[in-house]
Amino acid sequence: MRDMEPADIVGEYREYRLTYHDGSSRRLLVTDIEASYPDGRLIVSRTNPAGIITEVNQSFMDMSGYSQEELIGQPHHILRHPDMPSVAFKDLWDTVQRGKKWHGYVKNLRKDGGYYWVMATVIPNIRDGRITGCTSVRRKPARRKVEECIRTYPDLF
Ligand SMILES: Cc1cc2nc3c(=O)[nH]c(=O)nc-3n(C[C@H](O)[C@H](O)[C@H](O)COP(=O)(O)O)c2cc1C
Repeated sequence: MRDMEPADIVGEYREYRLTYHDGSSRRLLVTDIEASYPDGRLIVSRTNPAGIITEVNQSFMDMSGYSQEELIGQPHHILRHPDMPSVAFKDLWDTVQRGKKWHGYVKNLRKDGGYYWVMATVIPNIRDGRITGCTSVRRKPARRKVEECIRTYPDLF
């Protein structure tokens, strides 16, 4: 995956290098600018069993700032924010691999370095007893819940 580029960033940023589960790494450029989740929109994506994005809807593109071409074929960790504890994603993957739905609050990183909070549901798609992929639907999170995550997530690192 390409490093984040200063030309894409809006506002002052901090630089991180994040190493992912698959051993790859990426330079992240991160600002403190929040994009608030619009009322009444659902952000939807689908992945293959390895977490590679296969489909996104318009709200996904609008909120992440990436085009469809930039997203399809990329690992879903393209949205991973350095403030998200990896135990949250371990729990996500353990849950869907058991064939169960996962719910959680996620801070996602935008292409422009900003972020947005979502309340996510991840559902494994199962055919003939095998996971053929996953679907994730995100809704606007309650602010009270987001504030709870802002307080508690740092303790999970
Ligand atoms: C359907 C689906 C949707 C996902 N959505 C997100 C997401 O919105 N943001 C995110 O950071 N990770 C999401 N993940 C988790 C990523 O696949 C990945 O586990 C996470 O970003 C942490 O990166 P790493 O496990 O590669 O280290 C999703 C996974 C699945 C299967």
